[in-house]
Amino acid sequence: MPAPPTGTVQLYPGDARHLTALVDHSVQLVVTSPPYPMIPQWDLLFAELGAREYPAMLRVLEEAWAECHRVLVEGGLLAVVIGDALRSGEDGFRLWPNHAETLVSATRVGFRPLPYILWKKPTNKPNAFLGSGFLPPNAYVTLDCEYILLFRKGGLRRFPAHDPRRTASRLSRVERDRWFSQVWDDVRGTPQRRTGGRTGAFPPEIPHRLVRMFSVVGDTVLDPFAGTGTTLWSAADAGRNAVGVEYDTSVYRDLVREAVQRRRASSGVPRVTDPGS
Ligand SMILES: C[S@@+](CC[C@H](N)C(=O)[O-])C[C@H]1O[C@@H](n2cnc3c(N)ncnc32)[C@H](O)[C@@H]1O
Repeated sequence: MPAPPTGTVQLYPGDARHLTALVDHSVQLVVTSPPYPMIPQWDLLFAELGAREYPAMLRVLEEAWAECHRVLVEGGLLAVVIGDALRSGEDGFRLWPNHAETLVSATRVGFRPLPYILWKKPTNKPNAFLGSGFLPPNAYVTLDCEYILLFRKGGLRRFPAHDPRRTASRLSRVERDRWFSQVWDDVRGTPQRRTGGRTGAFPPEIPHRLVRMFSVVGDTVLDPFAGTGTTLWSAADAGRNAVGVEYDTSVYRDLVREAVQRRRASSGVPRVTDPGS
């Protein structure tokens, strides 16, 4: 029997809370970054989803994590890139702890939390802080880390001895040593380019590492908040199949356009399917 194709990309317009295009147990890895609650950039989108207050925003994300749990295989992994937010609430200026809330909500829907990664973003403003840094005690620490939260569904994934797909996915010693350390301070941020009016792309190095660390060649990698498709292209380049879901129609249109351009630039093999078009 011929080996199944790898490096395919499937795109769906839709809502991460209802992954209707995906059947249960059909994905080995989810790598994603949702809209961050309480970051003004995402207020309008959360409002469209019926969420104007923080608890409602968290519920939107929790429903998405439940869907990820449904479509993952036993032993499949969920990697969530998320940052906390700083913003005034009714009680004044405060932190909105998105990473802690996500740890709790993904665990509540059935995931097992694993040690996470701190992505320390390089700043070109080393002295940036909020408030007076010279006169104690009213200044605030700069938020210059994002969290890469890691979860597993159930027990460990099992493979036959000497599985060729697993062997082909082997990491180098340098990759293993660097990537499995808890602080990533060697990944540069990415300039925020506008996509249909909304932004939020992460650097390709982030999904590249996560895909190589937590899946094997031929696996299916899902991004239910696909955005500009950074996860999808990284997964396909690494010989995994990719599935992307995106809610915003203009962002989705750009995603399809980019997929077609990439297909043309590669071998011309029709590897991108867009059931939405
Ligand atoms: C932080 S961005 C993801 C960026 C992506 N990692 C990239 O590199 O481009 C979040 C994306 O999720 C989309 N989104 C928000 N709510 C959604 C939902 N309920 N279902 C699917 N996509 C959603 C937004 O339109 C946005 O494109």
